[in-house]
Amino acid sequence: MHHLQSIISQMSLEEKASLCIGASPWTSTPIQRLGVPELIVTDGPHGVRREVDIHAMGAGSLPATCFPTASCLASTWDVELIHQLGEALAEECIALHVDVLLGPGVNMKRSPLGGRNFEYFSEDPFLAGELAASYIKGMQGKGVGVSLKHFAANNQEYQRFSIDAAVDERTLREIYLPAFEKAVKNAQPWTVMCSYNKLNGTFASENHDLLTGILKNEWGFEGLVVSDWGAVRNRVAALKAGLDWEMPGPQERRVKAVVDAVRSGELPEALLDEAVRRILRIVFKAQETPKGGSFAVDAHHALAHKIAAEGMVLLKNNGLLPLKPAQHIAVIGHAAEKAHFQGGGSSHINPTQVAVPFKEFQARAGNAELTYAEGYPTDNSFRQELIDQAVSLAKTAEVAILTIGLPTFKESEGYDRADLDLTDQQIALIKAVSAAQPNTVVVLNNGAPLVMGAWIDGVAAVLEAWMMGQAGGAAIADILFGRVNPCGKLAETFPLRLADTPATINWPGEAGQVRYGEGLFIGYRYYDKKELPVQFPFGYGLSYTTFAYSNPTVSAATFKDVDGLTVTVDVTNTGHMAGKETVQVYVHDHQSGLVRPPKELKGFAKVELQPGETKTVSIPLDFRAFAFYHPEYKQWITESGEFYILIGASSADIRHVLRVSLESTLELPCILDVESTIREWLADPRGQAVFGAIFAQFEAYSRQVFGAVAGGEGNLGLDMMDMLADMPVVSALSFVQRALPMPAEDLVADMLKQVHSLA
Ligand code: BGC
Repeated sequence: MHHLQSIISQMSLEEKASLCIGASPWTSTPIQRLGVPELIVTDGPHGVRREVDIHAMGAGSLPATCFPTASCLASTWDVELIHQLGEALAEECIALHVDVLLGPGVNMKRSPLGGRNFEYFSEDPFLAGELAASYIKGMQGKGVGVSLKHFAANNQEYQRFSIDAAVDERTLREIYLPAFEKAVKNAQPWTVMCSYNKLNGTFASENHDLLTGILKNEWGFEGLVVSDWGAVRNRVAALKAGLDWEMPGPQERRVKAVVDAVRSGELPEALLDEAVRRILRIVFKAQETPKGGSFAVDAHHALAHKIAAEGMVLLKNNGLLPLKPAQHIAVIGHAAEKAHFQGGGSSHINPTQVAVPFKEFQARAGNAELTYAEGYPTDNSFRQELIDQAVSLAKTAEVAILTIGLPTFKESEGYDRADLDLTDQQIALIKAVSAAQPNTVVVLNNGAPLVMGAWIDGVAAVLEAWMMGQAGGAAIADILFGRVNPCGKLAETFPLRLADTPATINWPGEAGQVRYGEGLFIGYRYYDKKELPVQFPFGYGLSYTTFAYSNPTVSAATFKDVDGLTVTVDVTNTGHMAGKETVQVYVHDHQSGLVRPPKELKGFAKVELQPGETKTVSIPLDFRAFAFYHPEYKQWITESGEFYILIGASSADIRHVLRVSLESTLELPCILDVESTIREWLADPRGQAVFGAIFAQFEAYSRQVFGAVAGGEGNLGLDMMDMLADMPVVSALSFVQRALPMPAEDLVADMLKQVHSLA
């Protein structure tokens, strides 16, 4: 610290300003005379895209392991495996001279149409936060930094540089921020990348509440905030808001703007110094990790293989899988020969090697003859002859493996998806092949949910293989041929129809703004609330074995919020193959002051079990598992009362429900004011103390005057008490002014004085 202060004190204003803007697309500005080296950053998130020329853009990137993208990573539900991924990424960064990797991305999948969803983990903030924290600890434990992105509410590609995400505070706190919050509080990422979009009217890059208020002050973020590439409009405003480092550079005009702003007094130099301090801290931290050497190419390919196998989700299986020995297997689909294993855009990796699905099938198919047909083109043309060839091949075989990659014109960074369908040709192909060959398994390579209603009933099995990384071809083969028991579970809901999805009527926004009208209700929170059927629920995935749950317990039936709870359950492998099961714990608040989703994921654990084996899984639930964010108290609160603990194999397959009773230890400030309603006065203990007796009189009087009995019709032909309950006390009292000792306003003012003196 002392060291940094002494450097800062020797820096000229120009040096400070230029340190706060990159020197090139991927590097910070070095200050040689003071011994300040450059910081090198690179994309991210599921591999190291280290440009050949680190001071330029576009000359291609050095080979690195392409791991599965985030949709697949999240479907592993395996924090330990994600930690290993982080370590491997750090090793590659070290070998490739990279100080900070630009990832992970923890934005919520608000709509399955989001073009970049393949780079994000989940529709659930708890799951995304747990995985991100583990990824970060894995990487930073090896001395390489991350950039947690894109902060915040960057949930679509349409107008991503400018769209104004209009999100109410509670939704922001409960859905869009918690994954960032957990990652920051538990893993202290070296950097956080602000997003391009506006949030409630202000660019994220200029959003003081977000960058300074919440991130730095409230959550205690110690690292630096970097802009997304090109996200800064006004450099001075961004610095004031807490945006430390603008990327990319160089940008001479902006350096000058900062210098001028300090000279003119518009920007306090202390603010600039704070940005400089944060940047220098990371620059020097990065120096503590010596760079160079090589990384274990084959071991990392093997890790990519393992992660892919754990993240793939078996969606349907009528018993065809694992495949039995066969004479002839027809392998159909472009993605069998040309693996579709990653997405387009800034995360695009130059892989060290690629496992080709067809070859991997061949290697595991014993004596079977494998034949290949392309099946579909990767553009939007329709080629019937490819379908015809595929059908004749499928007819002569015992099994058809259809390997379907969603072409990039349907899914990439930079644009949203227009629908949730495969291409017309792919749909026609699946229908035709499965009509000719009942033993058809569909393997999907895509980054986000697809609708399958047009074809799923006709096929025997479906494996969601995701954008599976460079080794994914081998993982598919392992699963199809039974070398690996599938254990991935969906980290996002697969809906039946696009029209059912939560953001439908508020997507993708208009006139520069997108309203998050569905509020808290994204993903399974929405489908639960609407009681809508889905194709495959959140948390779902099949195995080649079966699991039974028994002996569910909680550590205490009645507990204090601050103490939390531990949930335990025994899981038994009741089938014939070793396998892994992910146990999920959801919490349902039985009664609450504000609307809450029917259930929310608050814990999970993955266990490996041999046939017949039983293990006890134990899952802790903390204060936050029961709390919600109250926009009036401006804090996370708990309310005393009953909660249900739901233990499930998916969000739709709840095996046990336990009732517990929470005692809130919070002493909330009194927020009653002149507009507070009768119900609110009576719900607050201080309000009850002051208003309770007055209310009793009021009730008696209005019963006498209006014949108003609760639950019955008074002389106005309505339930007077129901009508009054949500009226401000002052308005209700003014109707019975005649019976009051003083004007209603004065009475309420007096009551307020009393409650606030009690508080
Ligand atoms: C993307 C970021 C990425 C950056 C640098 C931006 O367009 O949104 O995720 O890290 O470019 O390539």
